[in-house]
Amino acid sequence: MKKTNVEVFLNYESEVRTYCRTFSAVFAKAKDSHLYSETGQEYIDFLCGAGALNYGHNNNIIMNAVIEYMKANGVMLTLDLHSKAKKEFITTFVTNVLEPRDLPYKFQFTSPTGTSVVESAVKLARKFTGRQNVIAFTNAFHGMSATSLSLTGSKSHRQSTLNASNVTRFPFEGYMGDEINTIELYRKLFEDKTSGVDLPAAVILETIQGEGGINVASNRWLRELRTLTEEFDILLIVDDIQAGCGRTGTFFSFEPAGIQPDIVCLSKSIGGIGLPFAMLLLRPELDIWSPGEDNGTFRGNNLAFVAATSMLKHYWNSFEFEHEIRAKERMVLEFFDEIEGKYSEHIKAIRGRGLMHGIEFYSAKHARDIVKACFENHLLIEVCGPEDQVLKFMPALTIPPGVLRQGLYRVGKAMHATLSPKWDTALAG
Ligand SMILES: Cc1ncc(COP(=O)(O)O)c(C=O)c1O
Repeated sequence: MKKTNVEVFLNYESEVRTYCRTFSAVFAKAKDSHLYSETGQEYIDFLCGAGALNYGHNNNIIMNAVIEYMKANGVMLTLDLHSKAKKEFITTFVTNVLEPRDLPYKFQFTSPTGTSVVESAVKLARKFTGRQNVIAFTNAFHGMSATSLSLTGSKSHRQSTLNASNVTRFPFEGYMGDEINTIELYRKLFEDKTSGVDLPAAVILETIQGEGGINVASNRWLRELRTLTEEFDILLIVDDIQAGCGRTGTFFSFEPAGIQPDIVCLSKSIGGIGLPFAMLLLRPELDIWSPGEDNGTFRGNNLAFVAATSMLKHYWNSFEFEHEIRAKERMVLEFFDEIEGKYSEHIKAIRGRGLMHGIEFYSAKHARDIVKACFENHLLIEVCGPEDQVLKFMPALTIPPGVLRQGLYRVGKAMHATLSPKWDTALAG
């Protein structure tokens, strides 16, 4: 086997790089839930492009649709011109996603990254309400451009742009323990004219905070938050960039709560096989933009429209796929039961839904060491949370059960090597 050479990255690529510091292989090929390095080593992928590869790498169905489109000289970039690919995408999304869920949204295509959608959502909310303040939550992550960064909790992410003006940070559900009724706290802050909290244009949230540590908002809290925002004429924006597109077991993460946000941000896996794509779903009466007021060159990425359409046609033409995700979730939960029993003194909590779960360790070092040991066992998995103390499970929704089992086995082995006392490891051989 050839030796991996990463010199070119070390010499020429900016110090800002992160994932490659943990996973030092040079990846050359990928199929479904496997990645292959240039030396031919196979890895199981539980990292999943940080939620952008819900349907796996080079998913045959999606990939073939994209190849056929290119072979037929399908138009690639159209700014916001009408295109056949966009027409098919909108029609399919309405038929397969919005109508079965009784959701009334219009579409706004933005520049194709998550952070661009968040920028547009907040810009629109401020324009619509004429208010500037926005409520964002503790441990939130909404992206790395100016407005998104101001909504993001992490100080280390914000350090180059510490400006978080016109943003009020509220504690997420459970942040102060379960005894505090956060909804009543927010209500008081909105009602009290001298609280110092200006009535906001919007409240923006992830229903399951991904980067923040897999913090799951309860259905009840989401419903009460929806009622509160309605009471005060505040727009509710759900950032479903990471938790959407099936990741939590339903197409949108807010479905189990039965709420209807005013604006939904989608990106990452809506691109089908990792193609850049992002869009807002907005209640029609919010659509007060004037032509061109919010724009971007790559709003017309037709290859991503084609990929998304084939993904929606294949996986979301019924509710069948949700059952499949649930079956895989049960496998993950069984594994967690076993792990929790074995390592209870190291595990603080296990949280998540669908195929988005986290194991929180008392020690962040344990979580980081397990990631390293997983990589040695040829599996990619990342950490999240304020201290990187949460091991984040995000296998592809399409992962075959056998590969999922093998992946969990590799994680279990890594945990054993990291958490078991030396003599125990020695005994285990
Ligand atoms: C919830 C959420 N919002 C926004 C973003 C930003 O997306 P992007 O990195 O594509 O700008 C992310 C990225 O991880 C995210 O998880």
